[in-house]
Amino acid sequence: MSLNREILEMIKSVKSLIELETESGIREYLKDPKDKEAITRGKERSEESALEEVELGVMSCRLCGLSKGRNNVVFGAGNPNAKLMYVGEGPGYEEDMQGLPFVGRAGRLLTKIIEAMGLKRRDVYIANIVKCRPPQNRNPLPTEILSCEEYLEKQIKLINPKVICVLGRIAAQALLKTQEPISKLRGRFFSYKGIKVMPTFHPAYLLRNPQDKRLVWQDMKKIMSELG
Ligand code: URA
Repeated sequence: MSLNREILEMIKSVKSLIELETESGIREYLKDPKDKEAITRGKERSEESALEEVELGVMSCRLCGLSKGRNNVVFGAGNPNAKLMYVGEGPGYEEDMQGLPFVGRAGRLLTKIIEAMGLKRRDVYIANIVKCRPPQNRNPLPTEILSCEEYLEKQIKLINPKVICVLGRIAAQALLKTQEPISKLRGRFFSYKGIKVMPTFHPAYLLRNPQDKRLVWQDMKKIMSELG
């Protein structure tokens, strides 16, 4: 058997395992259909599994050249039922090494922002426009953004957050399909398939321009009041 076939077979059996786990999980939870909490838990588990299934697909993705240089796919992390989702541009060095979003310097600042809102990282979901690191941290190319688009679409559909906060120009322009500069976009709500979208400055920009942290805080307060 070729190596590719072996990998495919492995992915298939992991997929079947996940499906099995989802099914049995739901069946177990639905024993008493009046138990709404249990039904919700079952739904959460199935969304988690559906996300894992999308992640499995991305792990073998070769749709664009970024796949050649990656150490890890950085799919996303957090609560699959989050009310608030952050979307950044793409993984940097640390993220590529760990396979997790926003774990470098900019990520530590994002964590502080989230905690200042009275939340924990595990309460929100964090993803990126592209799931593989662009070489030398260059901006992702339009073709790379397009190749990755369906993955983010699926993530957003499954998580179904109340608010998406897009971090920085690249993420804001890609999600909102606009060429407007981030200075014009930030601080106002937009809509993505009926979901409220708040663009704000990227935390890496804030590391270089700390005077603009107050503007990001204004944007976060708008998000907090939207979330109630
Ligand atoms: N910058 C991003 O846009 N995303 C990350 O995950 C890390 C840094």
